[in-house]
Amino acid sequence: MNKNEYNKTGTALFSIKNISKIFPGVSGAESYHALSDINLDIIESQCLLIAGSNGSGKTMLMRIIAGLLEPSCGEVLLRGQPLYAAQRGATRRIAAQRMAEKSLRRELGLVFQDADAQIIGETVEEDIAFGPENLGLSKTETGERVQAALEALGLFHRRELSPRRLSGGEKRRLAVAGIIAMGCNTVIMDEPFANLDWPGVAQTLAIIRDLKKEGKTLIILTHELEKVLAFADRLVILHKGSIRDDGPPAAVLDRLDPAWGVRDPRRNYAAIEDCSWLEE
Ligand SMILES: Nc1ncnc2c1ncn2[C@@H]1O[C@H](COP(=O)(O)OP(=O)(O)O)[C@@H](O)[C@H]1O
Ligand SMILES: [Mg+2]
Repeated sequence: MNKNEYNKTGTALFSIKNISKIFPGVSGAESYHALSDINLDIIESQCLLIAGSNGSGKTMLMRIIAGLLEPSCGEVLLRGQPLYAAQRGATRRIAAQRMAEKSLRRELGLVFQDADAQIIGETVEEDIAFGPENLGLSKTETGERVQAALEALGLFHRRELSPRRLSGGEKRRLAVAGIIAMGCNTVIMDEPFANLDWPGVAQTLAIIRDLKKEGKTLIILTHELEKVLAFADRLVILHKGSIRDDGPPAAVLDRLDPAWGVRDPRRNYAAIEDCSWLEE
């Protein structure tokens, strides 16, 4: 199968339906639409890249999918089950929602932009154990999962260190190790390359490659297309809180509007003096 082949008709894991996030205007100012009528089916085992310039709404969308922020309207479904209180009402509905929230915690792992903000444990080992413990798993089960995650992410030799002493790339690996130990099948990464040096970027890309190989569902939010585009099955462009395009990466890049603030990384460097991320 062509790696860029894109199948919108696969199994929808998450369905984002008519999501908007509106902030009321202060002292007579107009209200602010941070997200406007977002519709998106996230297909199982695909790597979805959501690209958009700063302020386009990527982090807000991630927080809504993860249940950390309630949308002003619309709903998010996980395998057809609504996640939000917007569907509150009959008791049966609330019970169904609780079930969906529980399955959300087991399904979806988050890698925040600020790796330090995600550190909980005193040691690498403790940090990874936090998630499975929180799911109520036994000590033995937790221990086994932590060992497996330490090995999978190449952090075994670091297990007794304070997470704060890890490099940027290792901190990203730690965040993913915690997610793996929880058994999550979907991983959202918000600006996974932010503040990383080249080895850190390479380590993060290696994780993305491995998660993809294992068939995990990946959602990567970034404006740094040139670093990760090769792994994407699908590209969505977010601009000023709206989805402007959605499809196979090559087709979306062919239709890019410069106003969206996303650059096509498929350009060739003709000469040394052209090798710059700085545009004149
Ligand atoms: N609490 C808030 N009140 C009002 N506007 C907000 C709030 N939080 C974020 N925003 C605005 O929403 C927009 C989307 O932000 P964000 O999702 O962080 O963008 P991105 O992650 O793509 O850089 C930005 O313009 C931001 O200023
Ligand atoms: Mg952001």
